[in-house]
Amino acid sequence: MQKAFDIGLDSLVGGELGSVPESSFLANAPQRGTFYLETFGCQMNEHDSEKVAGVLLSRGYRQVDSVEAASFVLYNTCSIREKAAQKVFSRLGEFRGVSGEPKKIGVLGCVAQQEGEKIFHRSPWVSLVCGSASYSKLPELLAQLEAGEKRVTGLDTDTDETFETELTRRDNPWRAYLTIIEGCDKACSYCVVPFTRGPERSRASDSILRELRQLAELGYTEVQFLGQTVNSYADPSSRKMKFSELLLAAAEMPGIRRVRFTTSHPRDFGRDIVEAIETSDRICNHVHLPVQSGSTRVLRAMQRTYSREEYLQKIAMMREAKKQITITSDIIVGFPGETEKEFEETLSLMEAVKYESVFSFKYSPRPNTSAQSMPDAIPEEEKSRRLAVLLELQRKIQSEANEKLAGNLFDVHVEGKSRKENQWSGHTSCYRVVNFSSSQPDLLGSYVPVKVTSATPNCLIGKHEL
Ligand code: 5AD
Ligand code: SF4
Repeated sequence: MQKAFDIGLDSLVGGELGSVPESSFLANAPQRGTFYLETFGCQMNEHDSEKVAGVLLSRGYRQVDSVEAASFVLYNTCSIREKAAQKVFSRLGEFRGVSGEPKKIGVLGCVAQQEGEKIFHRSPWVSLVCGSASYSKLPELLAQLEAGEKRVTGLDTDTDETFETELTRRDNPWRAYLTIIEGCDKACSYCVVPFTRGPERSRASDSILRELRQLAELGYTEVQFLGQTVNSYADPSSRKMKFSELLLAAAEMPGIRRVRFTTSHPRDFGRDIVEAIETSDRICNHVHLPVQSGSTRVLRAMQRTYSREEYLQKIAMMREAKKQITITSDIIVGFPGETEKEFEETLSLMEAVKYESVFSFKYSPRPNTSAQSMPDAIPEEEKSRRLAVLLELQRKIQSEANEKLAGNLFDVHVEGKSRKENQWSGHTSCYRVVNFSSSQPDLLGSYVPVKVTSATPNCLIGKHEL
């Protein structure tokens, strides 16, 4: 993935990880060995892993931070692009011919769903293959493994269940992630997600709000609602809460200061979401609204269900809002048949929107998808060239926009402390990274006003306003 806007905390040290107290029932769980869990891919996968770890901890496993120390090694995999999918096979290859005490190996997530039992043939030392739509069965699958079964699978996608756990081992002490909708019912022609994560399933609003209350009681002040198409949320309970109503209800939760959500699909993005952002200062003024291409012809071939003009209307609606909203996007270059002119339409759309950040990707053909068999593949070098042009343009757009922010005051949620004395880092409500200096101690987790003094294309630099 090429990021034009770095939202990481490079060279900064985060807070103490996993600081959320674990439930007391863990004390009574039988001791079952150790597990190591490595995660690839998106935020949804990261959060699934937090829940998988919760299931293992509550069954009496202990988490360790190296393969060597573990009796059970799990990989939560990503197959959105070919490169991501290959990573897990190189990890699995490392176990070939290894002697000593045999470890149990499990493959979870999108590659597990996509490759299924083929994984056992390629890597016979694997004993668990489970896709995300079957995670609710994980306790049963683990019980089968513990009873001595050699090969266990969870590969159904025809479920209407979401994966809810009694315990989630949260890795980010500042922002809690909460999946509100799983799977995807869209059918973008390049995308494996509908195959690997199954059909769309929303979680009942009262269960979401109950978990949010618990998170607030644990001390979390920021929550991020997750879903592949988070704004397609359809409350399955009789309350029939709309997505925008859920955002407003979350913002009212005592203790919660910031509510984020990602990823939104342009088709389902209505004015009511903008109104919710306008209404509540606790709903973050940042919308991730992937466009994928600026050409209506390519968007049709991608089956994105909107045209360039329709997308731009959504952008105009946001830019006209009473509050400034940061807009970020995902873009694919080199989709089959994308002409130079069509690529330039993507560039002109970027100029028109002036995204605050863009994640850009070279098209990668994926199994089962309809784009895989489309003619007129774009050569790899041409995809790389287009990506470089796009990144350069985005860099210019960001530099110009960020430089204009000098002198502005932002409320920053402090998430990192630099190794350098008196240097801190965090995010604004609009999800910009701010690196700043402060003479105050113990700022982690707090919200502080920061005056911007300068900027780079990827972050703002400022000073704690005392
Ligand atoms: N090739 C390249 N990029 C892809 N994405 C999804 N599928 C592919 C693919 N086959 C990108 C899209 C999506 C993001 C998560 O990954 O831009 O929004
Ligand atoms: Fe994939 Fe499209 Fe669904 Fe996003 S909306 S997960 S790109 S199929």
